Amino acid sequence: MQPLTQHLTDILSDAFAAAGYDRSYGEVVVSGRPDLGQFQCNGALPAAKAHGQKPRDIAAQIVAHLQQGAPIFADINLAGPGFINLTLSDPFLAQWLQAMADDERRGVAPVATPRRVVVDYGGANVAKPMHVGHLRAGIIGESIKRLFRFMGDDVIGDVHLGDWGTQMGMIIVELARRNPGWPYFDADNPGPFPAESPITLTDLEEIYPAASARAKEDTAVMEASRLATMELQNGRAGYRALWQHFVDVSVAGLKEDYGALAIHFDLWLGESDVQDCIDGMIARLQAQGCTSESQGALIMDIALPDDNKPTPPLILRKSDGAVMYGTTDLATIDRRVQELGAQLILYVVDHRQRQHFEQVFRAAYKSGITPPEVGLEHNYFGTMNGKDGKPFKTREGGVMKLKDLIQLVIDAALARMAESHVADEYAEAERLEIARMVGLAALKYADLMNQRMKDYIFDLDRFSSFEGRTGPYLLYTTVRARSILTKAAAQSIAPGSILPPTVEAERALLLQLAQLPDALRQAYETRMPSYMAEYIYTLANEFNRFYNACHILSERDTAVQTSWLGVTQLFLRVSELVLTLLGIEIPERM
Ligand code: ARG
Repeated sequence: MQPLTQHLTDILSDAFAAAGYDRSYGEVVVSGRPDLGQFQCNGALPAAKAHGQKPRDIAAQIVAHLQQGAPIFADINLAGPGFINLTLSDPFLAQWLQAMADDERRGVAPVATPRRVVVDYGGANVAKPMHVGHLRAGIIGESIKRLFRFMGDDVIGDVHLGDWGTQMGMIIVELARRNPGWPYFDADNPGPFPAESPITLTDLEEIYPAASARAKEDTAVMEASRLATMELQNGRAGYRALWQHFVDVSVAGLKEDYGALAIHFDLWLGESDVQDCIDGMIARLQAQGCTSESQGALIMDIALPDDNKPTPPLILRKSDGAVMYGTTDLATIDRRVQELGAQLILYVVDHRQRQHFEQVFRAAYKSGITPPEVGLEHNYFGTMNGKDGKPFKTREGGVMKLKDLIQLVIDAALARMAESHVADEYAEAERLEIARMVGLAALKYADLMNQRMKDYIFDLDRFSSFEGRTGPYLLYTTVRARSILTKAAAQSIAPGSILPPTVEAERALLLQLAQLPDALRQAYETRMPSYMAEYIYTLANEFNRFYNACHILSERDTAVQTSWLGVTQLFLRVSELVLTLLGIEIPERM
């Protein structure tokens, strides 16, 4: 199936061609004036300009041509300077929706040429607490990954852990200060070292802030941390063994945190995984003449002649020999292209890293690490702010731990559910499970409904309401559709084929359902889940309007009743699909 707008565009394009104009004038879009028609085509205006004619004359020719054609339109009219307004016949609309209902993909065709796509998202750091930027990266990235996969691309999601930076040296130095006798700190000890981690996740949560504060206060500690980082990178055995414990302990915690958010990575690679490729990569870059020395550091100049502001060079190796964030990112691109066959790499990382990615991407193309046909994109996002307009923090001003944030949204969901008597009479365990899903839906939808580049304000009261543009409202509506079908099934009434709509609210719902492929396509092309979020909200509103106008369960005319159930079922399927692509789980009942 193709999108309905495309089908209509083809018909209009044929009409333009038959009248002697270019087919490209035939583009049909959803009407901005639903009172005049459901769809519109504005092609007569540019066609008139190109041919030196009056737009109305051209539009009139097209309308005349369409009126002789297939009976898919109930109304075709000409408005203003030459807009063509189109309204579908109800039988055609019903037929179209039935085809959508019969199609497993709900009318969404997969892309013609699937690509191997790597989505780099999440990006949490080993030993450092996750911040709201990582939360957004997880939520938006998961949705983009699911959407690309649904559209037929061959997608790999990689968390790209931050596990190779100076924070590692800081923790090593701090632990050495506290436990000088540990075998890890003896430079001459080649190992093996104890298999059991000497520290827990809770220890790490306390150690990192302490270590980082000490390094900030004392330049000698900072220097020692840098040195330790460099030695770690260069393979000092005790440091590597200790570092492996940090990684293992952190990753176990991160898997739990991301898992609780229903965010799942295919690969748990990190910056350190390319360590073995870095020397080779740097040697190649040097041989290509891409690099130069600056104050003892090895850098790569990536400025372009028409830059209007200076783009700093990419530092590949610092004077002390340590590699940088950009170096590991560059080597990671090399890996992804060579070993994973990546044709497109999407980085879902916050906007503060725009310059970083600009530098890395330029270096990748300039050196040929990325062939020109491979796409590198920074799909950045804004900040989740508190009501004070500053990045969201705890009441005490600290970074909010993900677990605490999740508990906060679940508690809010529970309170709202009690208020609205949702799941009141269910057993405790089920009610808690529903609250978990409702809370996460509130959090995720509030994030995804914003155009990702924008900042947004975290307002739990608003997000967790069962009314308005919220995750809980969408879940409630979806579950309502499911419950209608369950009740009908209990009376042995099954969904039937979709009949031409007779009620305006039903017609509007069918039209909105038919726009699913357009919404997904837009979200896919712009890498912006907000198009899906917007779509599903409008769809839920239309469903509720239909539900209020058409009393499905008490309808006497069986053909009409089963048709309405068919529509309800299609709504349910579409809603399940879109919510799943947003990464939102739906409770069985509420
Ligand atoms: N670990 C980084 C951070 O916390 C994000 C990683 C993003 N991905 C990447 N390939 N650089 O800021």
